[in-house]
Amino acid sequence: MPSEIVLALTVNGEAVRRLVPTSRTLLELLRDDLDLTGSKHGCDVGDCGACTVLVEGAPRLACITLAADAEGCAVTTIEGMSADGRLSPVQAAFDRHVAAQCGYCTPGFVVTLTHLFAENPGASDAEIREALGSNICRCTGYTKILAAAAEARNTGRSSP
Ligand code: FES
Ligand code: FES
Repeated sequence: MPSEIVLALTVNGEAVRRLVPTSRTLLELLRDDLDLTGSKHGCDVGDCGACTVLVEGAPRLACITLAADAEGCAVTTIEGMSADGRLSPVQAAFDRHVAAQCGYCTPGFVVTLTHLFAENPGASDAEIREALGSNICRCTGYTKILAAAAEARNTGRSSP
């Protein structure tokens, strides 16, 4: 088995081709190789959701995903959520509700909610809570996050 592979994928719409160790995680590729530091190292074992990105439109925990598994895929990070310098509806709702304190968890919440509303624009409060079950915040107490999520749901246009 080779120790390195040439990886080709798309990140936030840009074609990427890199020689990477086969052990490289997707989070390491994004943060350390591509300088996309919005996705966070939290627990690094798949428990906190701070590293959540979209791979082919589905949420994935980048800390426990090998970069090699994203070969040929379209990856979207928090940096790809806004367009033309404008916040996405989910980002704007977080901003309006001040739904972050340290902000470390925020990219993961935004990515998870963006996927949820793309799939289910009318998600119920219970569905929002269920979708966020793998995202942990140590600061906010979740009230403002849930208020922001409810507002973003109501915009009906939460896809990046
Ligand atoms: Fe990936 Fe916590 S850093 S789930
Ligand atoms: Fe600090 Fe969520 S705002 S962990």
